[in-house]
Amino acid sequence: MPPATESDSLSALEALRREVEACTLCDLHKTRTRAVFGEGDPRARLMFVGEAPGYHEDQQGRPFVGAAGKLLEELLGAIGLTREQVFIANVLKSRPPNNRDPQPGEIEACQPYLWRQIALIEPRVICTLGNFATKLLSGDPITGITKVHGKPQRRELGGHAVTLYPIFHPAAALYTPAMLTTLREDFARLPALLADESVAEPVVPPSAAEPVVSPSAAEPPSSAEPVVPPSAAEPAVSPSVAEQLGLF
Ligand code: URA
Repeated sequence: MPPATESDSLSALEALRREVEACTLCDLHKTRTRAVFGEGDPRARLMFVGEAPGYHEDQQGRPFVGAAGKLLEELLGAIGLTREQVFIANVLKSRPPNNRDPQPGEIEACQPYLWRQIALIEPRVICTLGNFATKLLSGDPITGITKVHGKPQRRELGGHAVTLYPIFHPAAALYTPAMLTTLREDFARLPALLADESVAEPVVPPSAAEPVVSPSAAEPPSSAEPVVPPSAAEPAVSPSVAEQLGLF
């Protein structure tokens, strides 16, 4: 049952934050410094979902505070927004050691927190940053970010219709000028999407995209399938660095 009022939603989000900060559902709690719940406007119309905290995020307990975060802030500024006006979260709330890729079991354990954040914040547009967030929230574990970036999709997530908008991860764009250009172009479409969500494709039923809003991890949803590695058809940009980052 969703919270009845806005203040109920805010309290529920704060309760969820405390739950995440004390979470021991996967082994990452043993190596993290701080869990990173996410931050921003709890009623934001625009939400960003990245991959997982890195070194600086783990130290500070805040999302996107390193180099990728600086770029994200710059991109937001270019469309007249600040990070305080959006909500920024990640698929994983704890840093994987040495910034390795999230593992399927970690995503499975952590994803109910993200579904609950989405249900409570009720964003109209969710911008997924890179492969891991895109594959999880689109419910399509096969199609990589290179194919779907910049293409809005209608989905039912967290119990309401949203526009899912996949874009490249800012960390990948830091290393690849061509990708940065594409990221800027995709980002520039966000204001229009926020103004007119009907630009996106028709709603995909929740069965395909989102299994449960419930916090229960006891019954792993269909989208908990392992995140597959990028296909051979995916891009040839800076594979050495960007593939290490698992960003496309
Ligand atoms: N990269 C992410 O995916 N998330 C962060 O919070 C920081 C860097």
